[in-house]
Amino acid sequence: MAKAASITDEDLFAMRLARSAGDLWPMLEALYGGHPGYDGFRDSLLATLRKGWAARPIDLKRLDLLRDLEPDWFQRPEMAGYVFYIDRFAGTLKGVLDKLDYLEDLGITYVHLMPCLKPRPGDSDGGYSVMDYRAINPEYGTMADFEEVTAALRARGISVCIDLVLNHTAKEHAWAQAAARGDATYQDYYLMFDDPAMPRQYERSLVEVFPDNAPGNFTEYPHFGKWVWTTFNEHQWDLNWANPAVFVEIVEIMLYLANRGVDVLRLDAVAFMWKRLGTRCQSEPEVHMLLQALRACCRIACPAVIHLEEAIVAPAEMLPYVGRGKHDGKEGNLAYHNSLMVQFWGALATRDARMMSHVLRTHFPDRLTNATYATYIRCHDDIGWAITDEDAAALHVSGPAHRAYLSNFYEGTFPGTFARGALFQANEATGDKRISGSFAALAGLEKAQSDGDSDGADLAVQRILLGHALIAGFGGIPLIYMGDELAMLNDHGYLNVPEHAHDSRWIHRPRMDWHLAKFRHSDDGAAGQVFRGVKEILHRRRLTPALHAAHPVRIVDTGLSGLFAFVRQAPTGAMLGLFNMTEHWQNLPVTVARAQGVTLMQDALSDRPVFAHHGQIALPPYARVWLT
Ligand code: GLC
Repeated sequence: MAKAASITDEDLFAMRLARSAGDLWPMLEALYGGHPGYDGFRDSLLATLRKGWAARPIDLKRLDLLRDLEPDWFQRPEMAGYVFYIDRFAGTLKGVLDKLDYLEDLGITYVHLMPCLKPRPGDSDGGYSVMDYRAINPEYGTMADFEEVTAALRARGISVCIDLVLNHTAKEHAWAQAAARGDATYQDYYLMFDDPAMPRQYERSLVEVFPDNAPGNFTEYPHFGKWVWTTFNEHQWDLNWANPAVFVEIVEIMLYLANRGVDVLRLDAVAFMWKRLGTRCQSEPEVHMLLQALRACCRIACPAVIHLEEAIVAPAEMLPYVGRGKHDGKEGNLAYHNSLMVQFWGALATRDARMMSHVLRTHFPDRLTNATYATYIRCHDDIGWAITDEDAAALHVSGPAHRAYLSNFYEGTFPGTFARGALFQANEATGDKRISGSFAALAGLEKAQSDGDSDGADLAVQRILLGHALIAGFGGIPLIYMGDELAMLNDHGYLNVPEHAHDSRWIHRPRMDWHLAKFRHSDDGAAGQVFRGVKEILHRRRLTPALHAAHPVRIVDTGLSGLFAFVRQAPTGAMLGLFNMTEHWQNLPVTVARAQGVTLMQDALSDRPVFAHHGQIALPPYARVWLT
């Protein structure tokens, strides 16, 4: 057979299909094999993949090749993320184009544009209630604007992440509207029941996500005679992933968005995608089969694109989202490191890092395959105290009491607390109380400033920088949440906005303070100190090869309860991360550092040598050191 003179698009597709076939078809066979339309489904999925690939712009096809050649691109130390709402950061998509210098100044190489697809009108759960996945929120601009922004970011080496809400659509979505009109095909896209008998049976083992304002998991719609599964809000209808037609629809949408220049799809609320009677209907094994199959589809038709899976759950439940067991290396490329975040806040409150060390040592492997974490301290959501009773017991404390203590501490009611936050969805039945609040407010800046306490304000700045140094050094892509780099405080204005007043998460979704940003290079005031500090952390991160996410991270027991420590073991040498979680000085025996393979005694974070006195390294309050 004569060889073709060049490699064609068709060859590339065939090679990638062959590469991922083994990851894809067995999952689909297991999920949908028994479905009457299975053969037709396979054909239409293949046609969808081909169509997506054929429509992929040439510059994105180049990027596909580039990332095939450099599959660790998202694990590298130069990755640094920034998360913002388009309207709150820049007004519109066009406005984002004017802010690129700011992002570059900070050292950002990845942006998460918070929900930007067309939401339902009115309360849309911050944009997570989507009525059209192929349109941009008209308040932000058009799809053409969006493509202009992704191209401009790409030209600067900045990757773009957007949300793909695939557990539910808005009830205003065309599929939902057809279902409400009685179209049986579309009713099968959702989970609908003729009477409350089944919903009641499911409810017995379900939990409530928004017990305050959206109790229960089902909604009755008398005008079309159905009970609809609505895990989150009434207007968010859960999709029926047991229907293969839903799978094909979502793949088509994924490829459509990928072809607009998206690099990272943040798959929202994935834990809820599969329902099984008698369970919490969270993180069922089928969820992982679906996610592996979706991942394979992107690897075939838009391999430059990776998946961030949002599952804010306890460690053992979270890890499978980055591929464990038979899904190793084949599922999410990124998942939020919720435990690192929760434990950071826990250790700050208690001035004790032992639970943090225990949890991170016991539950997490030292490295992941084709994956890493999205590390963060704050995001747009509340903080839930995802600490199990078992982990609390290992430290001889009661789980419920510890969680209640953390809620009180960060709400700002516990005596002596430095924090000022707001409660979110206090659940009387379970005693669960989640917390909202900006990084700076939770770290003590709001209280210190209103008390006129300048020492307190200094400590708050140190806590904020400590958190950023932690997420930049631990391994993964550190995500800076808009405004935190300027130590922005809580925004109480949400209480005056009718659609937001019931949802305290808006307290930490402020409008960007561009006036404050003008002083970002100044040494005077918290905003400048934090901005300069964060910028320096990201700069030093880029220069520290040991921080590549593929290098193992191991938690180190230093014998000091207030010190959190881990070692990154890189072929270029070890790096010991030291984080003083307290406002007290601590002395670390230099032998502990040497035992971890640290030889130079150079702090890669400050770029200065570290000296030991009488065999001890002295660590000031809230010190952070990357010792190489
Ligand atoms: C995710 C989002 C959250 C939203 C929920 C429902 O958890 O982060 O903001 O309320 O999904 O879509």
